[in-house]
Amino acid sequence: MAKILKGLDYKNIKKASLLIKRGDLVAFPTETVYGLGANAYDKKAVTKIFEVKQRPSFDPIIVHISSLKQLEEICYLNDKRIGDLIRNFWPGPLTLVLPKRRKVNYIVTAGLDTVAVRMPANLIALSLIQEVGAPIAAPSANLFGKLSPTKAAHVQKQLGKKIKIILDGGQTTFGLESTVLLVEKKLKILRLGSLSVEEIGRVVKKDLEIIKRPKKILSPGELKSHYAPTKPLIVVDDEDEIFKLKFSKGKQIAFLAFKKVRNKDKFLCVEILSTKGDLNEAAYNFFDSLHRLDESEADIIFAQKVPRKNLGRAIMERLEKASYKKL
Ligand code: TXA
Ligand code: MG
Repeated sequence: MAKILKGLDYKNIKKASLLIKRGDLVAFPTETVYGLGANAYDKKAVTKIFEVKQRPSFDPIIVHISSLKQLEEICYLNDKRIGDLIRNFWPGPLTLVLPKRRKVNYIVTAGLDTVAVRMPANLIALSLIQEVGAPIAAPSANLFGKLSPTKAAHVQKQLGKKIKIILDGGQTTFGLESTVLLVEKKLKILRLGSLSVEEIGRVVKKDLEIIKRPKKILSPGELKSHYAPTKPLIVVDDEDEIFKLKFSKGKQIAFLAFKKVRNKDKFLCVEILSTKGDLNEAAYNFFDSLHRLDESEADIIFAQKVPRKNLGRAIMERLEKASYKKL
């Protein structure tokens, strides 16, 4: 299994950076989810990410930077709105998709002429990038299509046998992946995430568009089934709906509730996302709760819908993809 090392310790950052410099992979925390990092300029190392995650090679990887210098090294910045977005949201959970420079290999971008880039708001991540002295390419540190990790233990469970080190930064502060924004004439949100559409809208008042199911694939990672637990998951309006469904008869049921549960004893296990009904808190708890329900003895997980506003939209997007698999 991987060694879990305290991330807020320079000695461990140094250790992890040496591994990355020599072409290995390291899992590390960001403010959104844990990432599985490689030196973005090392083709072979980036190839390992695809192997370890069992990720299809058509799915491009986000490049994490710690300075403006690195940003200028990897992409072209000829749109005025980029400055507004960066000033307001970096470091933070916003990924920008921009025209790539030659320095970024097509393995990272899965053959696209754009590169996805972000500056994480996490001291461990930033220190690691700085210590490596190069941008770090990192997808979420989970097996492809499975639940994302918001704790070191989640990474250990899925990838522990395949990597040497996990830097532990505790539970991630946001809990959902970054929001992915394609900078074109229109600004297109390719993936809803920890930065809400409403917040982005305050900075770029017009030109903002949410891409639902594009005809041409704009974001190859945005497939229909994703973020999926191993158990089947079904989305419901409320707990009453569960017991009206024929196939819940005789099943051990796990329930992911939004604010409260009335009949706790009807379920094998229950997780409540936010008793206050706070969508930020719900986002923070989302993957951790799902990991726990998935580890239970239940046959099936039911998840309650949350309001589709602010981070609720990003949660709903993930629930819909997690439930896409046929029963
Ligand atoms: O919060 C996050 O973004 C985390 C942490 C580790 O930074 N990373 C993450 O990476 O979620 P990943 O690989 O799980 O998701 C990256 C998403 C995928 O949907 C991928 O298709 C999209 O970003 N993406 C990457 N490069 C792209 C590009 N050039 N054009 C369009 N979409 C791109
Ligand atoms: Mg992912």
